[in-house]
Amino acid sequence: MKPIVSATVDTAALRHNLSVVRGRAPRARVMAVVKANAYGHGLVAVAEALKDADSFAVARVDEGLVLRRAGIRQPIVLLEGVFDAEQLRASAENDFELVVHLPEQIALLQACRVARPFTVWLKLDTGMHRLGLTAEQFAPALAELRGLASVSQPVRLMSHLARADEPDSDMTERQLARFAAATRGQPGQRSVVNSAGLLGFPAAQMDWVRPGLLLYGVSPLAGSNGVDHGLTPVMTLHSQVIAVKGVAPGEHVGYGGSWTAARPTRLAVAAIGYGDGYPRSLNSGAPVLVNGRRAALAGRVSMDMIGIDVTDLDPAPALGDPVVLWGRELPVEEVARWAGTIPYELLCGISQRVAVELR
Ligand SMILES: Cc1ncc(COP(=O)(O)O)c(C=O)c1O
Repeated sequence: MKPIVSATVDTAALRHNLSVVRGRAPRARVMAVVKANAYGHGLVAVAEALKDADSFAVARVDEGLVLRRAGIRQPIVLLEGVFDAEQLRASAENDFELVVHLPEQIALLQACRVARPFTVWLKLDTGMHRLGLTAEQFAPALAELRGLASVSQPVRLMSHLARADEPDSDMTERQLARFAAATRGQPGQRSVVNSAGLLGFPAAQMDWVRPGLLLYGVSPLAGSNGVDHGLTPVMTLHSQVIAVKGVAPGEHVGYGGSWTAARPTRLAVAAIGYGDGYPRSLNSGAPVLVNGRRAALAGRVSMDMIGIDVTDLDPAPALGDPVVLWGRELPVEEVARWAGTIPYELLCGISQRVAVELR
């Protein structure tokens, strides 16, 4: 039985996007960021499709375990590192690479005995003030890690960019200067850029780039879509028409009656709602594709359904006709702008109710 709502994941597009990334960063290795269920696309399926990635990055140890249990053999980096001895043991057993951003994580490495030393990424906070050691902590931490039998040498060096998607900000230049100052003369592979940094700061690509969003075919830069960068959107969110009705002028549609028919209106009801991860913050007027043609959301998004003004569509939509909420023909970047959010949140927000299907 075909599901009423599904998110199709185009694995050929994933591979294409990886090749676009490689074209943009020809000298760097690619750490494919697959945290948060591969941005909603399916953690294991995406990792299997991206066999040519040089490594995978996840946020947490349990995400790494899912990949190893599925037989993924590439290096796996834990972007937040580990927080206790049990997680460290699991990381040793599963050969995870560790980001170290806290003195407490160095203490865990000091206290452990492992058969094979860990690959460690020491993280410098260059101004994002989320994770990372201060410039003052960095050199002593590096010296401590150098003396540990549990750590493979040389230690790798990393940071994260806070505003690489803002061309008018000088923040990235300042972050890069801080990174250069703290790591000058030190051996070890380096990694700083995410998707926006990879596109906007080619000189900062260093040894490893860490794209997430680009791999999913989506632009991290406001004002552009993935296709503008040669990418192909990977996810398409599909639903279908489950009712078609007439609404008389002056009648209201949906909870709160926030949309009023200004003319005799043909309304299609589609099976999609915030229970599927379709954002309730979308306002009337937001674009939806019905039978491949644009129409406008009418009224509030409810848990399982939306109303769409299809008055201008000819032929008129019928029961069962296809509805697309975002995807190749309707950029998720555009829907995110309508929702007052970023494409990351929409992609990650797909709920468990949505069947994810590989294409
Ligand atoms: C440390 C780190 N590197 C890389 C990425 C990938 O970011 P993007 O999806 O913008 O490429 C993330 C995601 O937020 C991250 O936290």
